[in-house]
Amino acid sequence: MTEAFDVVDIIRTKRDGGTLSVAEIDWVVDAYTRGVVADEQMSALAMAIFLRGMDRGEIARWTAAMIASGERMDFSGLSRPTADKHSTGGVGDKITLPLAPLVAVFDVAVPQLSGRGLGHTGGTLDKLEAIPGWRADLDNDAILRQLEDIGAVICAAGTGLAPADKKLYALRDTTGTVEAIPLIASSIMSKKIAEGTGSLVLDVKVGSGAFMKDIDAARELARTMVALGTDAGVRTTALLTDMSTPLGLTAGNGLEVRESVEVLAGGGPADVVELTVALAREMLDAAGRTDADPRAALADGRAMDVWRRMISAQGGDPDAPLPTAKETETITAQEDGVLTRLDAYAVGVCAWRLGAGRARQGDAVQAAAGVELHAKPGDRVTAGQPLLTMHTDTPERFDRARQALEGGIDIGASDEGVRAGEVVLEKIAG
Ligand code: URA
Repeated sequence: MTEAFDVVDIIRTKRDGGTLSVAEIDWVVDAYTRGVVADEQMSALAMAIFLRGMDRGEIARWTAAMIASGERMDFSGLSRPTADKHSTGGVGDKITLPLAPLVAVFDVAVPQLSGRGLGHTGGTLDKLEAIPGWRADLDNDAILRQLEDIGAVICAAGTGLAPADKKLYALRDTTGTVEAIPLIASSIMSKKIAEGTGSLVLDVKVGSGAFMKDIDAARELARTMVALGTDAGVRTTALLTDMSTPLGLTAGNGLEVRESVEVLAGGGPADVVELTVALAREMLDAAGRTDADPRAALADGRAMDVWRRMISAQGGDPDAPLPTAKETETITAQEDGVLTRLDAYAVGVCAWRLGAGRARQGDAVQAAAGVELHAKPGDRVTAGQPLLTMHTDTPERFDRARQALEGGIDIGASDEGVRAGEVVLEKIAG
């Protein structure tokens, strides 16, 4: 087959700050998926995009080309509207677990096609696999059946959705080109649009534990994704939410399932409840359920009922005890004062090194490994008081995990300037 373009010309155009044409974008994404454009050529192009950026038209076309590389799912045959949530990833971000069953209580179908963790941020599937028997892999028919019968499904995204992104994301991960707004926005939105949800709420994390460290970059990412979704006919909104400190009191797979179940039982940490309810409200509004009361459905057990059915439908036993770690070690406060900083990235790396995350795709994770917090920023602490407990099955990991916390914990004289408990920072509407 004669190729329409020479990839080196396309790389040069972007390297020199030019704009790629529709035909060039369509060709380069397709040719990369077919293996005609080599990994080293696509890495050069990704780096040029990282450094030079893309305009809105280029990003929209790049997203469309990635969608066209694979299949599209179709939920239009379901008897209820669909609503989905996507988080850009953080530490202790277990919100999908209580959120999906909570929104399904109100007769909205929630297809959460999720991924595994890589690096310091956890993955939803790794968390749910801590539940004995639970299976992540469902085929498209089983997904549709579960959405019709129960209303919520959390499962692995199949390989058929946006295969160009799968290949490109793995390449970006190893070439220092993950944190580019055009590439993140097109990567996330190509999968969400191909999935076929009617509405989408984006949880764009801001802070040390997130891709976007400052609010201006997070706002730009959120606006770009909201525009992509809206233009593709998906009702899309975004919340910018704090990721300077971990969400809730746990980071690690089984520990986060336990905390999610506490939320579904009407309890749980205030920040996890606040964000779950805020995202549920957005999803329910977008799906036309404007008078739904998600807080009440957590308090009265309706969300828990859906959770139990959702877990059982995928082979999990909602009553089985969650695995506990063989060893624990507790870190205590060095002095009296106020905990002024408990850094999300430091805790995320600590949990990862304890075995909650993986260094390479395909590595196994420990279901019980992670970090349990006993204090949050703004809390008064006294010398010797437990601040956090590390959990692992492999105690030789404690030293490196402890090192990850160095410089991540500050105790000060007062709580002045500590923004405690404020999770939702801003909303970006479509
Ligand atoms: N999540 C994705 O799916 N893609 C990115 O580029 C970043 C986060």
